[in-house]
Amino acid sequence: AESTLADIVSHAKEYGFVFPSSEIYDGLAAVYDYGPYGVELKNNLKQLWWRAMTQLNQNVVGIDAAIFMHPTTWKASGHVDGFSDPLIDNLDSKKRYRADVLVEDKAAEYENAGDKARADALLVELGRLLTENDLAGVKQLILDEKILCPISKTANWTEVRQFNLMFSTQVGAVAGDSSQIYLRPETAQGIFVNFLNVQKSARAKVPFGIAQIGKAFRNEIVARQFIFRMREFEQMEMQFFVRPGTEGEWYQQWKETRRRWHEAMGLPAAKLRFHDHEKLAHYAKAAVDIEYEFPFGFKEIEGIHSRGDFDLTQHQQYSRKKQNYFDNDVNPETGKPYGNYVPYVVETSVGADRLFLATLCQAFQEETITEGEGEKQQTKTRKLLKLHPAVAPIKAAIFPLVKKDGLPEKANEIYNSLRHDFPLVVEEKDSIGTRYTRQDLIGTPFCVAVDHQTLEDNTVTVRHRDSREQTRMPIADLRAYIGEAVSF
Ligand code: GAP
Repeated sequence: AESTLADIVSHAKEYGFVFPSSEIYDGLAAVYDYGPYGVELKNNLKQLWWRAMTQLNQNVVGIDAAIFMHPTTWKASGHVDGFSDPLIDNLDSKKRYRADVLVEDKAAEYENAGDKARADALLVELGRLLTENDLAGVKQLILDEKILCPISKTANWTEVRQFNLMFSTQVGAVAGDSSQIYLRPETAQGIFVNFLNVQKSARAKVPFGIAQIGKAFRNEIVARQFIFRMREFEQMEMQFFVRPGTEGEWYQQWKETRRRWHEAMGLPAAKLRFHDHEKLAHYAKAAVDIEYEFPFGFKEIEGIHSRGDFDLTQHQQYSRKKQNYFDNDVNPETGKPYGNYVPYVVETSVGADRLFLATLCQAFQEETITEGEGEKQQTKTRKLLKLHPAVAPIKAAIFPLVKKDGLPEKANEIYNSLRHDFPLVVEEKDSIGTRYTRQDLIGTPFCVAVDHQTLEDNTVTVRHRDSREQTRMPIADLRAYIGEAVSF
């Protein structure tokens, strides 16, 4: 059976992956905390992304910019004037909605009913209206489509208006306009304003990229779908600076590279698709989303954007500091160096939390299994997380079969010999079956059972999460065996 988002949410909470923020005070909408296994899984995802970007590409380096930036940054980037969502209120329910999301939901309804043409036409029309900032047109579309308030089932709507998504706060002791700053709504600007610092200090030659992982904040109006849309979240972004005229090739290349990466991470090709944007963000010349099929439908996990020289020229204008690069490669057409220019940018931007959610949705499985032999044979269902071993929070759990005869000591000896290599746990409590079940639920790929034979010949039984098969092997082989499986 397909699992629902509700199954995932309750599993995530019960087994220590994700908790609602400040839950004892009834939570804070669209804000979440990562638990003991969640933080390990998320760190693993971030580390693999970081490695795929910086270690595997000679021409990509990393930075870690601050969350707070000079407020002019957000004037230059277009966020003060343009980073907003169209809002609409329902007068009966007093609930606030994103007008575009109401229309998108209607389109999804058509698509689910088999009318893809109508769904597409509706999305194209929405894209056109938003691009023209025709808010009255969006309102008319909601009326024409007879979209009702999801809660009170009425169509009693206010006008549509724009709502800026940036959170602001004050720096220093004195409040006032001059001290107002924003929490960054994307990590990208920390990269753009550091373009020359990085290019010079890393002696980078175009084409090159700058990667960053960090928190971003958006005052999202609709808070729903768990960690899919949060007010505080993490982005993993890479800005790739290229010679003008070559951005098309790089856009294609990064689009394919990023899709392949998601597949390698365990998201199956059939559940991934590209979605070209009907409506382009203020900075973009071309944009595509990589979408994953969540239990609530295909939704964006990563955006690839061709941003042209928009950001660097804006910062050049607002800061009055040149953002030029001198390219001494020879242009074969002129026989002279390409010379000075403001590079174009192709960006890849993936949400760490969305990737986490996709990974969890993909890994969470319920299956029917048969256990035991002959008369003792029984069929039951088991839940498990089929996580790629490279991202699993715990790589192996070590179980002394019984709590006596020196078996716990032997288990701890194994733990001590491997704890520098992998995150491990030793579990002594409960029956061995219960212990297996618990590790399945958190996605541990291997369980190592220590029994009386272990004391005699230094061998253990390794039980595999997915197949439940067991292999006897020398303790001395564990490091290489687990190491091979958890490498990426
Ligand atoms: N610098 C480009 C940029 O920020 P975006 O499409 O607005 O582009 C990129 O965001 C990615 O960040 C998205 O694909 C998504 O994975 C993640 N993201 C955006 N808003 C989010 C939110 N409210 N909660 C969780 N993730 C979010």
